[in-house]
Amino acid sequence: MTRDLYTWQGGSVGIAVGDGPGLWPSVGEYPFYDRILYYVMTHDHLRNAALGHALRAVAPGRRVLDIGTGRDLNWALEAARSGAKHVDAIEAIEESHAMAAKVAAASPYAGVIDVVHGTSFDVRPAERAEVCVAELIGSIASSEGMLAAMADARDRLLTPDGVVVPAACDTLVGAVSARELFPGGPAFSRRALPYLRKIFDLYGRPFDVRLAVAEPGPEVLLSTAGAVERLRFDGSTPLEESTRVSLTIERDGDVDGLLCWIVLDAGAGARRLDSLRDKTSWMPVYLPVFDSAVRVRRGDGLTVEFERRTSDDGVHPDYHVRASLVTAAGVSTGALLSGHHEPGLGTKPIYQRLFQVIP
Ligand SMILES: C[S@@+](CC[C@H](N)C(=O)[O-])C[C@H]1O[C@@H](n2cnc3c(N)ncnc32)[C@H](O)[C@@H]1O
Repeated sequence: MTRDLYTWQGGSVGIAVGDGPGLWPSVGEYPFYDRILYYVMTHDHLRNAALGHALRAVAPGRRVLDIGTGRDLNWALEAARSGAKHVDAIEAIEESHAMAAKVAAASPYAGVIDVVHGTSFDVRPAERAEVCVAELIGSIASSEGMLAAMADARDRLLTPDGVVVPAACDTLVGAVSARELFPGGPAFSRRALPYLRKIFDLYGRPFDVRLAVAEPGPEVLLSTAGAVERLRFDGSTPLEESTRVSLTIERDGDVDGLLCWIVLDAGAGARRLDSLRDKTSWMPVYLPVFDSAVRVRRGDGLTVEFERRTSDDGVHPDYHVRASLVTAAGVSTGALLSGHHEPGLGTKPIYQRLFQVIP
């Protein structure tokens, strides 16, 4: 492990960097999509098969809105290919929009697709759409602002019976141990550093970003799994919500946090995707809820309370997570605020190891 220096107006931090796949900041909820991230999504065959299947079932003959089309225009092209009457493709990032506009112009569907620069919250297409495709699904399902974007789209951009692809997405949690997840100690992947720096630059300071874990695999779970988010994009899921799940410890170990992952239902009977078991572009997220590891035995109980509150940008949620473990030694509780851009730095031992404040 080495340390990479990040300096801002308030001082410097040494960021722990390792050679393995390691940790990433959860990147999807920030406007830093680049050639590499788009490449990963465009080549995520499981994701594309599921979303493509659901979109082809509803797009023919319809007016389609593609929110966050990205530089490759994946869903606008798929909708046009399958016979959509018209597609409005919206992209917030200027450079991605410029590339998408070129792709549309060079495609056989230039007359069908309008590529628009802006966020979905700002645009006013000429007509409401009957179908909306929006892959704004995060590593925690709601973290990229899908619920806020869909609430606004239903209000202003879709017909009353408008269909959304994907149809639904759950966020699951299970108990884990950081020592098992990061046997060599926690460290960011070297490839993740440019994104981490850009996120810090955007807010003018380093903070405890959400920690995305490369390919952990289901064997890391110490407990049963439970859904803390069940998002339905038919307008029935509120922006803000609190849920509670009770889990059971399934093997002896040391619990210090929760792993979050998604199960995506694109719709129209498409194969469900599980980001912990399937190889997809979504990375599970480690939430360090307990301040120190709690020794657990098979059969112990874990309760998780998960609260989604919209952050002050009005789009991206913050998560307030509380957990309590009932073991032979008594009840141990932990809490975490996993903010979209909260000012906390070093709020948990793992963050103190990842971000060493240099006096
Ligand atoms: C996860 S990527 C998906 C890209 C592409 N649709 C795909 O599935 O391959 C999300 C894209 O949506 C854009 N985006 C996010 N929120 C948006 C919004 N509210 N309006 C327009 N674009 C948005 C991002 O800049 C990014 O390009």
